[in-house]
Amino acid sequence: RLFSSASSSTLTHGDEASTHADADGVVDVNPPRGTRDFPPEDMRLRTWLFDQFREVSRLMAFEEVDFPVLESEALFIRKAGEEITQQLYNFEDKGGRRVVLRPEITPSLARLIIKQGKSVSLPLKWFTIGQCWRYERMTRGRRREHYQWNMDIFGVPKVRAEAELLQAIVLLFQRLGITSSDVGIRVSSRKVLQAVLNMYSIPEHLFTEVCVIVDKLGKLTRDEIEKELMSTGLSSEAVQGIIEVLSLKSLSKLEEVLGSGVEAVADLKKLFSFAEQYGYADWICFDASVVRGLAYYTGIVFEAFDREGKLRAICGGGRYDRLLSTFGSEDIPACGFGFGDAVIVELLKEKGLLPDMSRQIDDIVFPLDEELEGPASSIAFSLRKKGRAVDLVEDKRLKWVFKHAERINASRLMLVGNSEWERGTVRVKILSTREEFEVKAGDLE
Ligand code: HAM
Repeated sequence: RLFSSASSSTLTHGDEASTHADADGVVDVNPPRGTRDFPPEDMRLRTWLFDQFREVSRLMAFEEVDFPVLESEALFIRKAGEEITQQLYNFEDKGGRRVVLRPEITPSLARLIIKQGKSVSLPLKWFTIGQCWRYERMTRGRRREHYQWNMDIFGVPKVRAEAELLQAIVLLFQRLGITSSDVGIRVSSRKVLQAVLNMYSIPEHLFTEVCVIVDKLGKLTRDEIEKELMSTGLSSEAVQGIIEVLSLKSLSKLEEVLGSGVEAVADLKKLFSFAEQYGYADWICFDASVVRGLAYYTGIVFEAFDREGKLRAICGGGRYDRLLSTFGSEDIPACGFGFGDAVIVELLKEKGLLPDMSRQIDDIVFPLDEELEGPASSIAFSLRKKGRAVDLVEDKRLKWVFKHAERINASRLMLVGNSEWERGTVRVKILSTREEFEVKAGDLE
C-alpha cells in the first residue's frame, strides 16, 4: 500500500491537464499527472526514509542545507543536449523573470557555494533532501516530481571523496536491509572516454556532447547511437573505438587497452583499493558503459542498480570539478550523488523489506462523562509534557474507543470515570495484556 495511492492515481488517469473543474464545477480530485499526494500512511513511509537519509548523513559528518524549489532558469541552461534540460518545468513569473521548478539540486548547491565565496571553509560536506521536477515519460519508479537525497563534497580532489560517498550509499542500503546480492554500484570514469577521444585526436569541445550521447546506450539501439555520434563529426573508426571500450567490464582489460599511465585507470584502481579497505568491495563493479547523462561530470561516475535488472537506477553521481567555472566562478573540485525516493521504495517492496508503518500512539484518554472533560484535559496535558503521545477522545461509545485503540496501536487506555475520579484515580487498561489497574492521577507516567 505504501506510496500506492499516488502510483495508482498517476497510472490510471490519462488526461494530461487533469486537475481542473469540469463544466459542472466538479473538481478532479487526482493530483496533476505524475505527482503525488502523501496521505498519512505514505507520509509515514516518506518520513521514515528521510530519517534514514539524515541518519547516514549524520554518521558521515555531513551538514544539512536547503534551497528553493523555484530557481532561476539560467542556472539550468546547458547546451550539451541533455534530457534534463528538455524536461524543465519552466515559465515566466509575474515579474517577467524566467524561472524553473528545479529538476535537480546540484546547480543550486554550486550557486550557494559561489555566493558564500571565501567564507566557505573547505573541504565542505553538505547534504540536502528536496523535491525535484522533471517533465518525464512515466515508468515504474520514474515520475514528474520526486524527492532526492544529495550528498556532496567540495574541495577534495582525490578519490577519497568518491570512496566516502560510496560508503554512505552502502551504509544506507545496509540500514534498509538490502544486501550486495540485491544491489550493485557500477563505477567508471569519464576520463575513460576522454582517453579514447585523445587516442583519436577528437577535439575537446565534443567531449560533453559525446558523453550525453553515449549515456543513451541501452535506451537507444547501437545503430542509433552510432548515427548520433557520427552526426557530431566523429570518424566511423573513432565511433567503433568508443563503443568497443565502453563494453569493457574489467579494469585489467581497460588497462590493457588504454595503458597504465592513463589517469582514468589510476583513479579507478585507487577507488577499488579504498573499497577493499573500507570493506564494501563486493558492492561495486567496474563497468565502462556508465558515463551518466548530465553534462557536468568530469571524472569518476557511478550508479546503483538492482541486480535483477527490473528497475531504473536507484541513485547516481560522480565528480564534477568544472561546474563552477560554467557559472563564471573559480572551480573547486566537487563530487556527489543524488538518491531518489521512488526507486528505492519499489525495491524495498520487491524484497519485502518495507518496515511496519502502522501508527504508534502511547495513550488514549477517554472521559466517560461530559463532566469529566476537565480532568481528562489536564491528564492528557501532563502526559504530553512527559513526552507521551496522547490521543484525547470524546463523544464516542466505549466499543468505538477500543476499536480505535487497536487501529492506532495504542499502548494504554485511560478511562476517566466518575467514581474513580472521586478517589483521584483513573482506570488504566494495558492494551497488549488486557490487564487493568486503578492508578492515582499523579502516577500515570
Ligand atoms: P540523476 O541521475 O539525474 O542525478 O538523479 C539522481 C537520482 O534521482 C536518480 O538515480 C533517481 O534515483 C532519482 N530520479 C531522477 N529523476 C527521477 C524521476 N523522474 N523520478 C523518480 N526519481 C528520479 C542528478 O540529479 C545529479 N544532480 C546527482 C548529483 C548530485 N550528482 C552530483 N551531486
